[in-house]
Amino acid sequence: MDKILINLLRQFNPETAHNISIKLLKYSPILPKAYKDKSLALNVAGLKFINPIGMAAGFDKNAEVFNSLAKIGFGFTECGTVTPKPQYGNPKPRVFRYVNDEAIINRLGFNNKGAINFLSNVSKRNNFESPLGINIGPNKDSKNFIDDYVNLINHVYDCADYITINISSPNTENLRKLQNKNELEELIKAIVGSLQDKEKHKPIFIKINPDEDKESYKDIISLVSKYSISGLIISNTTVQRENNLPSEIQNEIGGLSGKPLFNQANEILKLVYRETQGSIILIGVGGVSSGYDAYQKIKLGASLVQIYSAFAFQGPSLVNRINKELVQLIKKDGFNSIAEAIGSGA
Ligand SMILES: Cc1cc2nc3c(=O)[nH]c(=O)nc-3n(C[C@H](O)[C@H](O)[C@H](O)COP(=O)(O)O)c2cc1C
Repeated sequence: MDKILINLLRQFNPETAHNISIKLLKYSPILPKAYKDKSLALNVAGLKFINPIGMAAGFDKNAEVFNSLAKIGFGFTECGTVTPKPQYGNPKPRVFRYVNDEAIINRLGFNNKGAINFLSNVSKRNNFESPLGINIGPNKDSKNFIDDYVNLINHVYDCADYITINISSPNTENLRKLQNKNELEELIKAIVGSLQDKEKHKPIFIKINPDEDKESYKDIISLVSKYSISGLIISNTTVQRENNLPSEIQNEIGGLSGKPLFNQANEILKLVYRETQGSIILIGVGGVSSGYDAYQKIKLGASLVQIYSAFAFQGPSLVNRINKELVQLIKKDGFNSIAEAIGSGA
């Protein structure tokens, strides 16, 4: 079934194929049923997850299909990136798929329908078993990025199970500068300060890029600890291109995801886990296309794992397949639950 669907969707350009997938998930009366196993359930950041596999940000930008994603087996979904105002993003074409390399390059630039539409969609939530993360970013033409984050986090706060501060998209000019120590401290201070009066404490994650030098990750870790941020999502897409990739990938501008990102994102995950030893929560993302890949990230220290590109290549039954493989892998290693495997190979 997935094969027929994927072959059909390949007839369209990647962005149109994505829009069709969203419509199918939204309206299809038949969706694969979630696979469940007790050994995959875990608690992270005070939230209950039925399994550790989530849909990464960027797939459900406008919060249209998170209910369906929960239905087909995702343990959680991160919707967004949402910006305060609607925005078109960069000129098309802006998404490129490389089937042989199982890779995607995108330079979408936070195309989304804005916060009001987003929250109206979130209000249609009917599944509370699968946590909902909201990933926020600034508008491209914003005069002050920090103000955008502060306003937006306060706007979406009550509707989210957790919130992600996205400072790592390569497609919004100057966004990644927020990963520099001084800028990041200013941003975190402003966000944390603005939430002081909130009654309920919600987990906040920062999503980082995999392209910085090693020292800068140490700066990020120290700020995350200093301001009690829950953890890091490692990582967003990369602007680097390994030499062995075909020239069409080398030459296309944008963030690269999928298989070629796997090792690079794992290196950062490994580095950050070794520095933090479980004191902050890590969500691993980048190049996961099987249970074995997800398990590798968990053993390197990820408490949760997200996927995007492989879902586009393999179709909706991928998430059940990953979860089934995870159950086999933890059994094989003699663990009773997935939680026991976190960091076991770091
Ligand atoms: C088409 C596309 C759009 C994306 N949009 C976003 C986004 O809006 N916000 C974000 O934080 N990450 C975004 N990402 C990055 C993914 O969330 C993820 O970090 C990255 O793709 C690596 O995971 P993968 O290799 O499983 O795809 C996007 C990725 C793709 C392929």
